[in-house]
Parts: sequence; structure tokens; C-alpha cells
Amino acid sequence: MDFIMCGIIGFWNIEKQAFPVIIDSLKKLEYRGYDSFGLAVLSESGSLNIEKQVGKVSETKCNEVSGKIGIGHTRWATHGKVTEKNTHPHIDCSRKIAVVHNGIIENFQELRNELLRTHKFFSETDTEVIPHLIEDEIREGFSLKQAVINTGKKLKGRNAFVVLHADTEEIIAFRNGSPLIVGLKKINGFSEIFIASDIQAFLHETKEVMYLDDDQIVIIKEKPEFYDINTNEKIEKRLIKIDIDFSPVTKGDYAHFMLKEIMDQKQTLMKAINQNDRELMHVAEEINNSRGVFFIGCGTAARVCHTAEYVFSSIADKHVNFVPASEFGNYKHFLLPETLVIAISQSGETADVLEALKIAKEKGSKVISIVNVQESSVSKISDYVFHINAGPEKAVASTKATTSQIAVVILLAYACSGMLREGDRLLVDLAAKVNDMLNPRYSEHIKNIAEKIYQKENMFIIGRGVNYPMALESAIKIMEVSYIHAQGFGGGELKHGPIALIEEGTPVIVLVSNDVSRDEIISNAIEVKSRGAKIIGIAPENNEAFDYWIKTPDTSEISSSIVNLIPVQLLAYYLGILRGHNVDYPRSLAKSVTVK
Ligand code: G6P
Repeated sequence: MDFIMCGIIGFWNIEKQAFPVIIDSLKKLEYRGYDSFGLAVLSESGSLNIEKQVGKVSETKCNEVSGKIGIGHTRWATHGKVTEKNTHPHIDCSRKIAVVHNGIIENFQELRNELLRTHKFFSETDTEVIPHLIEDEIREGFSLKQAVINTGKKLKGRNAFVVLHADTEEIIAFRNGSPLIVGLKKINGFSEIFIASDIQAFLHETKEVMYLDDDQIVIIKEKPEFYDINTNEKIEKRLIKIDIDFSPVTKGDYAHFMLKEIMDQKQTLMKAINQNDRELMHVAEEINNSRGVFFIGCGTAARVCHTAEYVFSSIADKHVNFVPASEFGNYKHFLLPETLVIAISQSGETADVLEALKIAKEKGSKVISIVNVQESSVSKISDYVFHINAGPEKAVASTKATTSQIAVVILLAYACSGMLREGDRLLVDLAAKVNDMLNPRYSEHIKNIAEKIYQKENMFIIGRGVNYPMALESAIKIMEVSYIHAQGFGGGELKHGPIALIEEGTPVIVLVSNDVSRDEIISNAIEVKSRGAKIIGIAPENNEAFDYWIKTPDTSEISSSIVNLIPVQLLAYYLGILRGHNVDYPRSLAKSVTVK
């Protein structure tokens, strides 16, 4: 079985070659997957020229194919191998229909088994059922447009796909669940039309867009035509001008995006807290008057949501719930129109988050989001959006977006407690401390510690209070970049099992904050030290329990979540480098996970 998530691009014009345009766009979509890529271009003679490659589009050479209309795809496989055969586009038996797809066809086995009676499959993917289904529909006498609609309706799950047929000079795209956006450009009187999973794919070409919504198709030729798949009626769309700076992001003087983005935290906290006070107060009122608040997110953003439980309890004396977005469906019975669902997402495109928000909307609950990428799918469906303004985050491992998200959560909690001014002052002070902390000597010190432990295969991180979810996040950071097995625990939990894994020299990172939990977490450190652990203390003050000490600014308990996480981000970075990994693009991961 092959579940894929990916980036899709389609390009239509009558003047220039599609190949370089598609390749450029695929590079911009790499954050959605970088296992392999492929494209299909309609040749002058009316056949499909297809090229596929395993590897990253930015690092792999691909034979140029000729033609002006084409579709392309960059893939991230979760099931099924990363092979050329499984790379998109996929084609039908007649080799006339090429399809690129994002999503999971939940009933693909059933469809494939049925199709296997009369069709030959070339890959193990779920996607391949689409061209074969379209082929059947056309054979039955339906137009390409109707064949695409009929096929799309047969697919269960959240899907988007784009079709190129050798006999027509048009591209047709279908959306149900996964985003697709049309970009329009007029050049010397000629139209150039793009369709992609994300505006980033063509924002360097045009800022004029039209959104394809769920249960709609778009036919792309001289101009895009949108149709409702249920009524078949034509839909008029508004042309929207996107106001986003799309200047290319570079690493500057840094060796990797990850290091640059860690260092960006010197400025990003200030940008995150620069929110509109009136909106903050308005949302705070909604939170205070709500019946139930759920923070939802995935991966690192989920750890921020978990942190929110502590932040709101400590600052606003308010109970809020954290649920990983992928588990949110289990809580739907508790959702009322007065319930608030607060989504945290860097990309605003994570499939599980979008699915959770759909559930919230169905129940009439209000949706608030804290996102980085503007014009993302999450921001579009939210009632209120707080942009963290961290700037593009390119490295797969989230760093600056994480601390910015925490800062906004802290600000919201202060707004709920009626102490927004105090919160603001505290965070400005924190931002200044982070700015001082991120100096070359500090990085060098952390690099030296990394050199001592990079050959270890297991690591543990412990923290209490707000530093418990930060211990969990620290483990994610270390694992994803260095591939060292790392686990985070609440300080008190270590002795209920994991302590059995502590051996002579096992590194244990201890996240300390100067508050009531300090003595307890130090006791936990001593417990593991007496069993041979090497203690890396991340704390405002040194302690005899520490084998290595990474000094952090002395802040409030809640702010320690931010100042304790930053040195772990640096440690993870250096561990990854010392182990020879591509820290910006770790194996098997993607920046934005667009499948459930
Ligand atoms: C992926 C990324 C993580 C990120 C998570 C959620 O797993 O590698 O860094 O935390 O997705 O992404 P989001 O864009 O919703 O924050």
C-alpha cells in the first residue's frame, strides 16, 4: 500500500516550455516531501512526455521534456517504497491520462481489486486507481470533465488530484479535502495559469490567485473554469491578490537553515508578540466565556499545545485541554457552539489539523488559529488568526516557529487574566534575554558538549511543569535531526520504568527553572546520576549534580519553556552535524504532513 503526501503543480500556457517552470515550482514544494519527483508534459505531437526521478528535485538531475502544458509532483511516501515506479505522475493503460495526487484514497484496495480485472497496474500506489478509473469513464462515453468528476466522487478520504490528457489541451483538477490553488499571470497578452497545492509553488511568478474549494473542479485552458461537482454548475470566482513577500529565502552566512532559524530567534520573539491588542482582548473574552477550550496541533506544534495547559493554568487560572489533532475526533462529543478550538500550526496545511477543524466547524465550535504561513488552509477556515510572523521556516525541524507559538500562547493567557500589559513587558524582557543568549560563545559551548555525547544511541530529557512538554519536544528535536533515540519524561515519571534504561554514561538532559519545581527536578537528576547517567543541566544556576552545565537566563517558570528549549535546539543541530546527517532535510520526514 502506498500512502502519499506531496506537492502538486500544474502549468498551462501557449508560449513557453513547461519543464523549467514545473521544476522551479517543485523545488518550492519540497517541504511537502522530497523522496522523489516526476512530471508529465504534453508534447507537440499530442503524446505525454513523462520523466521521474528518485531523490530531491533540488539535488537531482532530470531529463528535460518538451511541451507547454504539464503537471508535476514531489512525493513523500509513508507506505510503499521510494521507487521510480511509485513516483507520480501515474498513467492509465492507454498512456493518455497522467495524474498527480495528494491525499489518501481510503478505499483504494477495493477500487484496485475491481480495476485489476481489466487494467494493468504499473505501481503499488493508491493514486494509480485514478487514471484507470478515468479511462473507464471515458470508455463509457463521458467527457473528460465528467469522467474526472465521476472518478473523484468514487474516492473516499481527503484527496486532490490534477489530470493531464494527451488528447485535450487542458488540465483538470479535482479537490475534496486537500488544498489546490490556481495562480493567474498575464504576460504579453498571453495567459499563464498555475495550479498547485500551495501558493508558494508559484508566488515567484504571480500573486493573483483563485481558490478551488472542496467538491469543485477547475478546467484550466485560456482561463480557468470552476464547477461544482454535485450540481455541475459553473462557479464564478473572485481574483484575489496575495500580499506576501516572496523574496527567496537564503541561509545567509549559515551552513544550514536550521542553524539560521535557531539564530533568527534573536528577533522572532519580538515579532510574535507584536499582535493587535484589541484582537487579543477579544479572543481572550471568547476564551473566558467559552465552555471548553481545546488546543490542537501535530508534532512539535502539539507539544506547544501541551505547554498551553500549563501556561493557562499558571497565568490565567484557566483549564484548557490539549489533544493531538489526530486524536481530536474522539473528543467530538464534548464540542458545543460555545467550545473554542485553538489550532497551532506552522504551515497551516497539516492534514490532521484540517480534519480536526472540520469536525469543530461541523459542531458549530469557533476556531482560532496560531499559524506562521499566511494564506494557509488553516488560516482560511479560522474565525480568528494570530500570525506568529516568524518568516519562512525551511528546515524540517521546527525551531523559531515553536518559540514564537509559545510566546503567543503566553500572551493570550495574560490577556485572559486581564494582565496583557504585564505579559507584554515580560515577553519583551524575555526576547532581550534570548537575544543576549544566542551568541557565538554559547553555540561553541553547546557544540563542545555535543562532541562528548554524539556517539551515544540513547538519551533522556526530563522536566517538570511547563518543562515537561518541553522535555517531550526536546526529544523530538534530538531524534529527528540526529537519529539518536531520545525520550522525554516528566521528572517524577522516570523512576516508574525508564530509569531501568539508565546505564553508565547515558546522557540525561535536565530542564530546570528557578521555581518550586527546581529542587524536585534536581533530585530526579541525582536519582539517575547515581545510576551512572551523565547529567546535562540546562538551568540558570550550576549544580553539583550536573556533569555539563548550559546556562540559561533566569526567567519566570513559564518563560523557562522558551529559554530551556533553545539550547536543546542547538544541541540537536550539532548532534546531527557530528553524526553526518542532512539536518535541514532529515530522512523520512517532511516539513508539512498533508496526509492523515
Ligand atoms: C511535521 C514537521 C514538524 C511539525 C509538524 C506539524 O511533522 O516535521 O516540525 O511540528 O509537522 O506541522 P505544522 O505545520 O502543523 O506545525
